[in-house]
Amino acid sequence: MQQRTCLAIVLAAGEGVRMRSDLSKALHRIGGRPLIEHVMRAARQAGGNEIAVVVGPGRDDVAAAARSVVPQAQVFRQDERLGTAHAVLTARDAIARTPDDVLVMFADTPLVRAETVEALRAPLAGGAAVAVLGFMAADPSGYGRLLTDGDELIAIREERDATAEERAIGFCNAGLMALAGEHALAILDTIGNANARGEFYLTDAVAIARDMGLKAVAIATSEDDVRGINNKTQLAEAEAELQKRLRAAALEAGVTMVAPDTVFLCDDTRFGKDVTVEPFVVFGAGVTVEDGALVRSFSHLEGARVGKAARVGPFARLRPGTELGEDVHIGNFVEVKAAQIETGAKANHLAYIGDARVGAGANVGAGTITCNYDGVAKHRTEIGKGAFIGSNSALVAPVKIGDGAYVGSGSVVTRDVPDDSLAIGRGEQTIKEGWAKRLRDVKALGKKTPKKQA
Ligand code: UD1
Ligand code: CA
Repeated sequence: MQQRTCLAIVLAAGEGVRMRSDLSKALHRIGGRPLIEHVMRAARQAGGNEIAVVVGPGRDDVAAAARSVVPQAQVFRQDERLGTAHAVLTARDAIARTPDDVLVMFADTPLVRAETVEALRAPLAGGAAVAVLGFMAADPSGYGRLLTDGDELIAIREERDATAEERAIGFCNAGLMALAGEHALAILDTIGNANARGEFYLTDAVAIARDMGLKAVAIATSEDDVRGINNKTQLAEAEAELQKRLRAAALEAGVTMVAPDTVFLCDDTRFGKDVTVEPFVVFGAGVTVEDGALVRSFSHLEGARVGKAARVGPFARLRPGTELGEDVHIGNFVEVKAAQIETGAKANHLAYIGDARVGAGANVGAGTITCNYDGVAKHRTEIGKGAFIGSNSALVAPVKIGDGAYVGSGSVVTRDVPDDSLAIGRGEQTIKEGWAKRLRDVKALGKKTPKKQA
């Protein structure tokens, strides 16, 4: 059978007033990713071969987020928010190319699964002109109500326009709608704005299609699939539902978690085989944990790769650009940023390793700090393989500790240490009057740092 073509239109032009935020509603995040990205992905997975997004004026940030998922997405701008049908019609040019299916999705309904969207499209292949996604709402207030007669959908009534009797209906409009491409423009162009809010309601498409002698149906799904997000409470509820799904997927993939409810994951967290995650761990975006690794309690990871059989935490912080090789140990109160820690290296307690490379088998003692920032610029520290850094040492970057070198406890290392040598001591204290002020002055001029130790 030939695949039906599908134009998916994602509406994201609403003002989202109830979020009480300067950020567009579509850019608030769940599972570490903007709401609109979740919807764009579902649209594409459900067969949307052409994808349009409708954004408000000046919302290049929303358009950019949409394009990060679907680079060829068409962006339409709705200058005045005159309602959901008006928003859909800003994509008139795309609808006029008459795809088989026109799918309307809301950026504020990010939990919808691709399977559900496919189920919504199915009746169009069977001859229906309009298919609407419905669900039984625990609390229907705020949602449009679906007026049905057996399998047929008669109309959708927005709450403000509903009678008391209609409000008592629990079957609600999830907001997603599929329209037959051949009838879509005729239906949409007939929608008026004679209602309580004076808006062009997409929901009127149902009654109009029926008046035209066409068929409309409702497809039922669960509330967790279609929670709409209008405020921060609903944002938190959607996050909770997504976390539930991510934890279930991680367990399914073989991750051991004794208290999964206390582990927070991102949409893109990747786990190998035989990984163990102890209670109370937070994964930010971009984390990969390879086979056999152990992530202990109260650790926070973001933009990091944890190599095979590595151990992290408890109380470790891995920041973006962290690469832990095989068998690496990062212990309590150790922070790592933009650093490669190579096979078998260890930093077991109280250290900061930033903008650095730590060679294989090196041992970084408690209290070691890479002094990577001089107040103006960042500098790198290189620690050779098998090196030993004694406790409470400050490595003043840029600096290189050679392979197999040894740094005595409490050292302040300002010069490169050759392979297999010992560096020890704090050196003499030098006072340079006015030096700090000159540093601030060059910083203000945007120049390079005055020479270290000058
Ligand atoms: C809408 C439905 C309601 C349904 C509910 C499900 C209509 C008229 N009502 O109500 O039946 O139960 O969703 O969550 O469709 N938008 C624009 N431009 C506009 C107006 C809205 O792009 O002019 C976008 C918003 O960004 C949002 C979506 O359309 O993504 C829905 O708008 P919203 O105002 O949240 O509609 P609801 O009142 O929730
Ligand atoms: Ca909404």
